[in-house]
Amino acid sequence: MPKKVVQINRVTYKYRSSSFHALTNVSLDINEGDFLLLVGYSGSGKSTLLKTINGLVPNFYAGSFGGDVSIYDETITEKDTALLAKKVGFVFQNPENQLSNLTIEREIAFPLENFGVPRDEMIARIDELIALLDIEKIRFKSPFAISGGEQQLAAIAAALALDPPILVLDEVTAHLSPKSANELLSKLYELNQEYNKTIIISEHRLDRCIHFANKMAYIENGRLKAFGNPQDVLENQNYPKELLPKIPAIYLKLQEETKNFSTLSKYYSFISKRDSIPFTTNDFMSIFSKEGKRK
Ligand SMILES: Nc1ncnc2c1ncn2[C@@H]1O[C@H](COP(=O)(O)OP(=O)(O)OP(=O)(O)O)[C@@H](O)[C@H]1O
Ligand SMILES: [Mg+2]
Repeated sequence: MPKKVVQINRVTYKYRSSSFHALTNVSLDINEGDFLLLVGYSGSGKSTLLKTINGLVPNFYAGSFGGDVSIYDETITEKDTALLAKKVGFVFQNPENQLSNLTIEREIAFPLENFGVPRDEMIARIDELIALLDIEKIRFKSPFAISGGEQQLAAIAAALALDPPILVLDEVTAHLSPKSANELLSKLYELNQEYNKTIIISEHRLDRCIHFANKMAYIENGRLKAFGNPQDVLENQNYPKELLPKIPAIYLKLQEETKNFSTLSKYYSFISKRDSIPFTTNDFMSIFSKEGKRK
C-alpha cells in the first residue's frame, strides 16, 4: 500500500471578503511519490486548495474553514504552520512575491538559517541546490534582476532548502517560454523520479506536463469533479473539452519520453476520436515504431 502523505478531508473554505465558498467539501488523498496535476478554470480554487496543504489557508487568511488537512498523518494546526516548511516546499503562482533577499544565495540560505542549520552544512546545501537547479550564474544576483524563469528556479531552490519530501508548485510555468517550461517540468520530474519527491502542481497548459503526472485532479467552482489517473480524468464526463491537452504538443514531447508511451497512445486515440483530430492514431503509432525503442 502506498503511503498517504497528504490527506484533505471534506475541506470547505470561504475567504472573509468573499460572498461564496472558494472550496466546497473537497476530499483528496495524495500518496508518497505521486506527481499530481491540478487542473481547473481560472478562479476555480486551485491556488486556494494548494494553500491548504501548507496551512496558509486558513492560518494566514481570514475566513471560515471546515474539514481538515493532514500531512504525514498529522493534522495541520495553527501552531505548526512554520514547522511545515520542513515537510512541504511551496512555490507561489507569482514567485517574485516570495523572493525578498538581496541575492539568490541569501534566498536559499534564509530557511536554513531560520532552522539553525550549522554554517558548513548550510553552505554544502546551497552548493547542492545551485548545482541541482543549474543556477550558478544567478547565485549572487538580486531576485529582481533576473528573468521570470530564473525567479521560478530560485524559488524552487529556496523551497527545497530544507529538503521537504513534498513540493507544491502553483502555475509554475506561467511566465515561461515553452522551452524554459519544458526544462523546468523535466527538472520536477527528475526530483519526482530520482529523489522520490511528491510533486503537486497546478498548470493551465496540460500538453506541457500531463505526461509527467500519475494523478490528476479536476476542480470546478471549488468542487472536486474528477480525481484519479490522468486518462480516467480526461475521459470523465465532468471534464471539459476545452481543457483537454493539445495532442501535437504531447506528441513532440513524447519523442523524448518513452516511459508513459502506452498510456499516452491511449489518450491520443481517445482524444483524436472525440475531437476528430486529423492526425490518426496510425500516424502516431508508425512514427513511434520507426524509432524502434518503444514497447
Ligand atoms: N485573498 C482572497 N480574498 C478573497 N477571495 C479570494 C482570495 N483569493 C482568491 N479568492 C477567490 O477565491 C476563488 C478561488 O480563487 P483561486 O485563486 O484559488 O483560483 P485559481 O483556480 O487558482 O485561479 P487562477 O487559475 O486564476 O490562478 C476565486 O473566486 C477568487 O476570486
Ligand atoms: Mg491560482
